[in-house]
Amino acid sequence: MRRYLRVVVLCLACGFCSLLYAFSQLAVSLEEGAGGGGGKPQAAAASWLGGGGRGAARGAGSAGPAAHPGRSDRYSVKAQPVERMHLAVVACGERLEETVTMLKSALIFSIKPLQVHIFAEDQLHDSFKGILDNWSFLQTFNYSLYPITFPSENAAEWKKLFKPCASQRLFLPLILKDVDSLLYVDTDILFLRPIDDIWSLLKKFNSTQIAAMAPEHEEPRIGWYNRFARHPYYGKTGVNSGVMLMNMTRMRRKYFKNDMTAVRLRWGDILMPLLKKYKLNITWGDQDLLNIVFFHNPESLFVFPCQWNYRPDHCIYGSNCREAEEEGIFILHGNRGVYHDDKQPAFRAVYEALRNVFKRHYSEREFRLHQIANEAHGIVCARKGCSRRSSKEAAKDQMHNKKSQHPAPLSGVFSRYQVWPLWAQSHQANPMQFCRN
Ligand SMILES: *[C@@H]1O[C@H](CO)[C@@H](O)[C@H](O)[C@H]1NC(C)=O
Ligand SMILES: *[C@@H]1O[C@H](CO)[C@@H](O)[C@H](O)[C@H]1NC(C)=O
Ligand SMILES: *[C@@H]1O[C@H](CO)[C@@H](O)[C@H](O)[C@H]1NC(C)=O
Ligand SMILES: *[C@@H]1O[C@H](CO)[C@@H](O)[C@H](O)[C@H]1NC(C)=O
Ligand SMILES: *[C@@H]1O[C@H](CO)[C@@H](O)[C@H](O)[C@H]1NC(C)=O
Repeated sequence: MRRYLRVVVLCLACGFCSLLYAFSQLAVSLEEGAGGGGGKPQAAAASWLGGGGRGAARGAGSAGPAAHPGRSDRYSVKAQPVERMHLAVVACGERLEETVTMLKSALIFSIKPLQVHIFAEDQLHDSFKGILDNWSFLQTFNYSLYPITFPSENAAEWKKLFKPCASQRLFLPLILKDVDSLLYVDTDILFLRPIDDIWSLLKKFNSTQIAAMAPEHEEPRIGWYNRFARHPYYGKTGVNSGVMLMNMTRMRRKYFKNDMTAVRLRWGDILMPLLKKYKLNITWGDQDLLNIVFFHNPESLFVFPCQWNYRPDHCIYGSNCREAEEEGIFILHGNRGVYHDDKQPAFRAVYEALRNVFKRHYSEREFRLHQIANEAHGIVCARKGCSRRSSKEAAKDQMHNKKSQHPAPLSGVFSRYQVWPLWAQSHQANPMQFCRN
């Protein structure tokens, strides 16, 4: 009888243990189901590809990514489906059209998914939404609109001290806390290459580099900083901040050397003292502050060649951007208002061609652009040994565009515009021609 009881107790214990085991397994599998365990990255990638339009619409709601801590967001963050490139721009005043044209150039050439962060004055938000929501067919693009904002601690002070729009960009590492890396550009930038190309420079940073910019000048005799600046600046001629690639994770972590205190300061703590000390001596706003920071921390800057930030200055007194002459212009920067006047016709021509992309009806100029693009493609292909596109084929294509009420199928548009950089390089964007007055 006693032995019988012992067996029963043993059986009960075993049963209890297996029950416990079963429960723990169940808990593990539930967790996996909710949090996205291993083995499902493909599903995540697919949902990213399908979710572009939805993402854009959500962006239009003007809520930042942090406002959607939903399950699918958590899931996609965890699974890291495709690396996304982040692009930021600050648009104030009359800069709507320029900004939209910049975005078009970014979208038609880029390959990896792009998330755009637009900081704009409130009165521009509706216009941005009206235009960008119509691009929701682009599955590899979404955007967020933000008001001009400052970290809350001393927002009022910043607004008072300095033009809010001009200093916004300095705060991006503090506002976009969840973004690892970011390409900041001015509104008067046009991409003539996939953003993927400049994005790949992030991987070339050595262990101390946190940001990348181009020199302000190639030719010290006509440089601005070395002749006029009343504050420290980076290198021989300073740097231009119109195209700035940042590893913001590193910017947030770094302690910066400076000439205000003996201790090193974090990004969030250095800006205010810097502005207070130099506000009477700076001319170009935030660009000057960046020059001061990298004067004291030169090991942290990656300097890329002028073809990544090609400005009218590179040809006003003769062509002085050697890299562009050899390899072409990669990013065009039409400062000094050259997209809108006749001082530099080549800059303006490129701007106008890109401005017309995605319009409902093709303009005359675009037909010509297609034609030229096809020609350039044919020539480049012929050189590389692939078959030359027949003029008959090209004509058929053009007829199709002319007849249809709507733009040609988008894949067609894209494949045609993909060859545009080649055209730009061989025609307008040849610096020798840019510099011909
Ligand atoms: C853009 O898409 C990414 C990936 O799906 C998502 O994490 C992000 O929240 C989206 N942004 C907006 C504003 O919808
Ligand atoms: C967006 O598309 C709608 C419908 O096709 C059109 O009525 C509207 O004018 C477009 N908006 C812009 C800014 O192009
Ligand atoms: C930025 O720097 C962090 C820290 O060094 C690194 O983990 C991350 O991969 C870098 N980002 C890119 C895009 O290289
Ligand atoms: C500002 O410029 C003046 C005049 O060149 C100079 O004396 C002064 O030291 C400068 N201030 C700073 C903080 O560099
Ligand atoms: C990274 O490159 C910069 C610029 O060339 C240089 O000053 C710095 O010493 C380098 N850092 C390391 C760790 O090599």
